[in-house]
Amino acid sequence: MLNGTDRSALLDVRGLTTRFATPGALIHAVEDVSFNLSPGEAVGLVGESGSGKSTVLRSLLGLVKPPGRVVSGEVLFRGRDLRTLPADELRRIRGGQISLIFQDPVNAFNPSLTIGEQLRRILRLHRAEAPVGGFDREIERMLARVGVDASGKLNGYAFNFSQGQLQRIMIAAACLSGSPSLLLADEPTTSLDVTIEAQVLQLLRDLRQELGLALILVTHNLALVAELCDRVLVMYAGRLVEDGDVYSVFDSPKHPYTQQLLRSVPRFPASARRVEAISGSVPDLTAPAAGCAFAPRCERYLGAICDSLVPALAPAGSAAQRAACHLYTCQR
Ligand SMILES: Nc1ncnc2c1ncn2[C@@H]1O[C@H](COP(=O)(O)OP(=O)(O)OP(=O)(O)O)[C@@H](O)[C@H]1O
Ligand SMILES: [Mg+2]
Repeated sequence: MLNGTDRSALLDVRGLTTRFATPGALIHAVEDVSFNLSPGEAVGLVGESGSGKSTVLRSLLGLVKPPGRVVSGEVLFRGRDLRTLPADELRRIRGGQISLIFQDPVNAFNPSLTIGEQLRRILRLHRAEAPVGGFDREIERMLARVGVDASGKLNGYAFNFSQGQLQRIMIAAACLSGSPSLLLADEPTTSLDVTIEAQVLQLLRDLRQELGLALILVTHNLALVAELCDRVLVMYAGRLVEDGDVYSVFDSPKHPYTQQLLRSVPRFPASARRVEAISGSVPDLTAPAAGCAFAPRCERYLGAICDSLVPALAPAGSAAQRAACHLYTCQR
């Protein structure tokens, strides 16, 4: 369901706007972002570096730190606005029903606490009662599920584990300590080498299926989106510019930015599939354009309307595809 209010949506984000007030400049990092997500659905969030992808994820969970602030918008999770929940309730949802995994597994762990102690703390937060057999048995079971043999290793520290192992441990903590229905993953395999990446992807795929997890996957790797996701959201300069099912968007992108983006990477399925910068200068987020932020780089520039009016996401092509471009808002 792409448009309007969807009562069956797991997540319904409306008008999310986040800014960073740095000395001398206000950065419009996320502007009026709206989308929804059905239970079990997987969505890829793509766009050039600095387009606001990580800020969207952090904004959903109330993790934007000063000088950043979510200025407006609603984040309805199962119909309740996470932005208005008391802090302790939000903390329970975070890691309990909604989990987050990052690019860098090493920094996700506290270097001065044992892995066992960190996992025990997470479990205690999300389990009302101690698991049968105790916390350590449960932790070993969780780690075994993600392919890490933890026997005798719970007293080890992050540096005692490899990158790939730490990423698996982070995934275990995210997916198995609570009972999540939504996983937010910010470039979860970028720091891993190719073999480990494939294994971690398989693990994510299996866990998603097993637990019925919905997923928002932030990545520069379009092949990953094609492999793991049902839908793709494309961001440019803090705004969503295209939203559609993966097949339609990759087969027939509607927004000129998406078109140029897909042309700038080798054809699928090729080896190097990262989103690379396209020609032209990146937009200045401190002085948002009055019209479409992509206009100066656009191959389909229509003239004054593109410079004066921000295009709204509108149906483009199939019913399951929307693009924020005046090509689809004006009759030409
Ligand atoms: N803590 C911060 N302080 C100031 N500006 C920030 C902060 N975090 C992000 N920004 C700015 O917000 C904008 C969006 O950044 P964000 O990290 O969300 O982009 P991204 O799409 O995740 O990029 P990447 O692909 O490089 O991870 C950028 O202009 C960035 O400089
Ligand atoms: Mg990012």
